[in-house]
Amino acid sequence: MAKKIELAVDNGRTEFEHWLAADGIYAVQCPGFLPGPGRLPGWGYVISYVVIGGEKAMLIDTGFGNADLKGYIEKNITTLPLMVVNSHVHPDHSGGNAQFDVVYIEEHEAKPGEEVYFYKIPGQRAACQEVIDGGTYRYELLKDGKEIDLGGRKLLVCHIPGHTPGAIALFDHNTKMLLSGDAILKRVFYGSGVPFSKYRAALVKTKELPIKDILSAHWPEPLGADFIDKMIYLIDTFDPEKSEPAGWDEPGMSGVDMRMFCYGRDFDDPDFVAVSFITDQLEKIMQ
Ligand SMILES: [Fe+2]
Repeated sequence: MAKKIELAVDNGRTEFEHWLAADGIYAVQCPGFLPGPGRLPGWGYVISYVVIGGEKAMLIDTGFGNADLKGYIEKNITTLPLMVVNSHVHPDHSGGNAQFDVVYIEEHEAKPGEEVYFYKIPGQRAACQEVIDGGTYRYELLKDGKEIDLGGRKLLVCHIPGHTPGAIALFDHNTKMLLSGDAILKRVFYGSGVPFSKYRAALVKTKELPIKDILSAHWPEPLGADFIDKMIYLIDTFDPEKSEPAGWDEPGMSGVDMRMFCYGRDFDDPDFVAVSFITDQLEKIMQ
């Protein structure tokens, strides 16, 4: 796949763009831009994925909700019924939920009778209220280990807590691709206070799968099957003393003291892996 990667460039696009990322898996680059924290400008865009089955298709993530994703998919990719899943409920992955009736999330992202995780973070509700509150969709819950059958194609739900409490990846048995959302990413924002030991254990469990490659939500190219080893190495060698400041001047995030640590120096280095964390959460995540 030839996709030019320009770091920290907001082209102000208002249209979606899509490409075939693997057999029967379409990447949909959504409008909207995340500049990224600190010295790391990042790529800045968010990618949703559409996985085509025999009877229905799965849409993983709904972008910022600032454009008609449902209409774009129906016109350009598939008219199959869509099962909509959020890899987690951050606004760049759930903003377009209101375009659908039902959205599936992992059970740790919400408890029955409680608001979803996203709503509990001070400032985040305000930051995205107009897109999040703009519809009447309802959430249904998924459990780790569930196999979702699209008709001749099954995807496994892999709970990988860390980025958020209920972050998931989906493993496509047909292509052996792991669709990792923000759970496995060139730069994981570790914002939930989940202990690293839990995150590490989930990564190790994921390695039991015969993963051919990893498609993440914020990088247009596959990360490589060995990327999970790099993440584990990063966690195992983490030294808080060697972390560096990583401020993020975003609505709802400005003023939050963050630090980061990384493997490699530059974001476009093929081996680059980074984790950024909220400084106040250090004690919790080191448990
Ligand atoms: Fe994201």
